[in-house]
Amino acid sequence: MAYVHSYGCQQNVNDGEKIRGVLMDVGYGICDNVEQADLILFNTCAVREHAEQRVFGNVGALKRLKEKNPRLMIGICGCMAQQKSVVDKLRASYPYVDLVFGVDGIDRLPAILAERIRRGKRYLQDPVQRDAVVEEMPIRRDSGFRAWLPIMYGCDNFCTYCIVPYVRGRERSREPQAVLEEFQSLVAAGYKEITLLGQNVNSYGKGLAEPMDFADLLNLLCQTPGDYKVRFMTSHPKDASHKLIDTIAANDHLCKHIHLPVQSGSDRVLSAMNRHYTSAQYLELIDYAKEKIPGVTFSSDIIVGFPGETEEEFEQTLELVKQVGYMQLFTFIYSRRGGTKAAEMPDPTTHAEKAARMERLLRTQDEVAFPRIAAMAGQTVRVLVEGCGRTPGTLNGRLDNNLVVEFPGGEELIGSWADVELTGSRAALLTGRAVTNA
Ligand code: SAH
Ligand code: SF4
Ligand code: F3S
Repeated sequence: MAYVHSYGCQQNVNDGEKIRGVLMDVGYGICDNVEQADLILFNTCAVREHAEQRVFGNVGALKRLKEKNPRLMIGICGCMAQQKSVVDKLRASYPYVDLVFGVDGIDRLPAILAERIRRGKRYLQDPVQRDAVVEEMPIRRDSGFRAWLPIMYGCDNFCTYCIVPYVRGRERSREPQAVLEEFQSLVAAGYKEITLLGQNVNSYGKGLAEPMDFADLLNLLCQTPGDYKVRFMTSHPKDASHKLIDTIAANDHLCKHIHLPVQSGSDRVLSAMNRHYTSAQYLELIDYAKEKIPGVTFSSDIIVGFPGETEEEFEQTLELVKQVGYMQLFTFIYSRRGGTKAAEMPDPTTHAEKAARMERLLRTQDEVAFPRIAAMAGQTVRVLVEGCGRTPGTLNGRLDNNLVVEFPGGEELIGSWADVELTGSRAALLTGRAVTNA
């Protein structure tokens, strides 16, 4: 039996689904409990220091399992395994880790396992970067109604804080035909929500034999007949075009929600981050989307305490948050990543000051979002029922605009569409009652 745990972004979660598919192909069963496993794989994330520490902690906790079951194999893969310093540390200090392979090693996993078993000793691969696009990998998806669909891999943007271009390699797009075939097979299999993935989906298509842009890809995919919705992430503001927004406005399959990470509201900080847009350009794009897409909602990622961020620059971020009126924010305190440009920048602000800024940002976001969410009461919306709600006897449904509503209902509705009348809200969570089932 194999246990696979993925950390980090959806790209990594999708890689974890492929790892499970590959393992099932060579005869493994999949379990969700480490105690039952004779192969444990941690598919890791390196984006912040905290993510890495969690992995080291969780790997350390496996030592006792290995003592109980010497046949157990423990493996580390994913983005952390793309860093030489991590592989060296595992080699030196974690003797009970048997396997290490990077993000491009999934298709070779059967060979890696065979090699480990044949040699009878550890197989720790130093990072390699193949920059490959491997098609037709077996996959075991976590859900039967929501699917991740990568359209491109890697990143060439080198935002100065970010490790991703170093661990995920150069940007490369899948051929539109391969994306379309996978998309059609998902719709045919009854998937209701398909999320297209890439670190910067708006630069899709560069370098293809016949270049194609992201809006064209969306139009191509959405010609597929069926009752489904499409989401995508992540859009980089520097490459998000009016054409993309017009496409979202014109197509009913595309959710009226845009995740558009701004990172900071200060032009000095944005430039130091190498983001290639100003707050004015960002706001112009937001205004255009608000004008063209009635009811559109936005979410964003924000980094607090980038090296040298002043109080005034931070306040510009607060201003921008208010101006956009995001429904959802993913907020991070800057984490220094060795090898990136920002790691060399002077960073005089204390952690306590950064944590205080984070608190203020979260409070501002609540003040912006909660009244807007509350004001939705009275509307009837179509939602995809994702699972059980926190309150016993309720379900959680996701709206087109990415908000979640909790409403009374039975588990048999999970994975289907439902019409829900919104009756109120608690913080960011809407509450409602089912009207009919679509
Ligand atoms: N490609 C996506 C995001 C990938 S990482 C994009 O460009 O938007 C997800 C988020 O993690 C980033 O948007 C950023 O807000 C955050 N992040 C990345 N590196 C970080 C770091 N070193 N410290 C803190 N947050 C970071
Ligand atoms: Fe990182 Fe920037 Fe690439 Fe996103 S676009 S993955 S933040 S380098
Ligand atoms: Fe983390 Fe790798 Fe994704 S570093 S955020 S899992 S691309």
